[in-house]
Amino acid sequence: VELIKGIKTTMWGYNGLVPGPTIRVYQDSYVNTGQSRRVVMQQINNLPAKHPTMGYVPWTSTHLHGSPSKPQFDGYAGDLTDPGEWKNYMYPNNCSPRTLWYHDHGVHHTAQNVYMGLAAQYHLVDERLERDLGIPRYDREKARLGRPQYEFPLVISDVMFTRNGQLMWDDDGESGLYGDVILVNGVPWPTMKVEPRKYRFRVLNGSLARGYTLKLSNGKPFQVIATDGGFMHEPQTVTTLTIGMAERYEIVIDFADLKGTRVQLLNGGVKNARDYDHTGKVMQFEVGTTVTSTDGNTVPSTLGAPHPVMTLDPATSKATRRMRLERSNGLWVINGETWDDVVKSRYEHVFATVEPRSTEIWEVENSSGGWFHPLHVHLVDFRVLSRNGRPPRPEELGPKDVVYVGEGETVRLLLHFEHEEGRYMIHCHNLSHEDHDMMTQYQVG
Ligand code: C2O
Ligand code: CU
Ligand code: CU
Repeated sequence: VELIKGIKTTMWGYNGLVPGPTIRVYQDSYVNTGQSRRVVMQQINNLPAKHPTMGYVPWTSTHLHGSPSKPQFDGYAGDLTDPGEWKNYMYPNNCSPRTLWYHDHGVHHTAQNVYMGLAAQYHLVDERLERDLGIPRYDREKARLGRPQYEFPLVISDVMFTRNGQLMWDDDGESGLYGDVILVNGVPWPTMKVEPRKYRFRVLNGSLARGYTLKLSNGKPFQVIATDGGFMHEPQTVTTLTIGMAERYEIVIDFADLKGTRVQLLNGGVKNARDYDHTGKVMQFEVGTTVTSTDGNTVPSTLGAPHPVMTLDPATSKATRRMRLERSNGLWVINGETWDDVVKSRYEHVFATVEPRSTEIWEVENSSGGWFHPLHVHLVDFRVLSRNGRPPRPEELGPKDVVYVGEGETVRLLLHFEHEEGRYMIHCHNLSHEDHDMMTQYQVG
């Protein structure tokens, strides 16, 4: 791919694209009848037998992050597809409409594989709900006619280049890789032309290790309308948005008052020694003077019924568990254990065994000093009950599957285990941490 003008950089993509193709699944049949429309994705590993410079075997395991998939289709780290092999994955599409993403999850090489390009968005769309709400949306009829769209994915990532324009791998195994070039949908610091009206962006932090604090260069507020698990009950107005790795926030920016101007999306930075000169900027919008269509140019004060986990009574919780995120003997551990410990136990070790359809409270403590960890629990949507004993941030008032656990912070989560039974992973979404070796698993049923 040509990330830098005139230079070809070797990357790995899904169907040759970086990021891979955005998959949109329309859910209307599920909404109307409870019968979901399942999708089978056949994944053929056509990667080289060895990474050309790093030398590892690029086995893959693909995870659809945000989906309550059956364990055999969840991208389990040890369920590997080697180069030359293939595997079919079945996706149920039986959860609330949301922004998901699919990415590699192969044991010990997830960070490198995702860095090479193996990531993309996947949207579960309730088209009728979006039309009724009147929010900016991707309109397939208009897309067919080549008309402008008002909803876009923004996959934010960061990379480093070698002198001849190839991706550089610079990971000390402790902090993970912090690039000095920010990419949006695979393009360094892009400029996007927009009309003076509302736009919806499905923002995903697809970086390996870098967190962002997004804000507009004019300091104006914008709205958060959805979190990892789908629409918030009430949209929240913010001027900054902290987004850890793998978190998804759908935001609406109104360019109506900005006719004929430019506005930048900036990164206030999660203060870190790895910030470079240019990592403070993300992309730019060039606002035109005319509006083609005023369809979907509103954000109502409520966005439909709240997600069930947001109204669950914490008093129904069956157990309270504690999870400590730490650095010990040069390894990242959860409650003293690494994923290698899980592998050595023939995948038998579990952090917890939970009852199907039960509710639990998990308290996650980051006592690792100097680091933040976006903690991800597979299979479930959870609610952030508190952050350091105080209410969660406004943008966290929606269903989540990743929670940002900052330095010295403790978060309390309310989880409800529905959908499937089986063994599912829990890990830090700093992918270098995940690979070395901050991952464990739990068992439902
Ligand atoms: Cu986005 Cu277990 O991963
Ligand atoms: Cu996941
Ligand atoms: Cu971490």
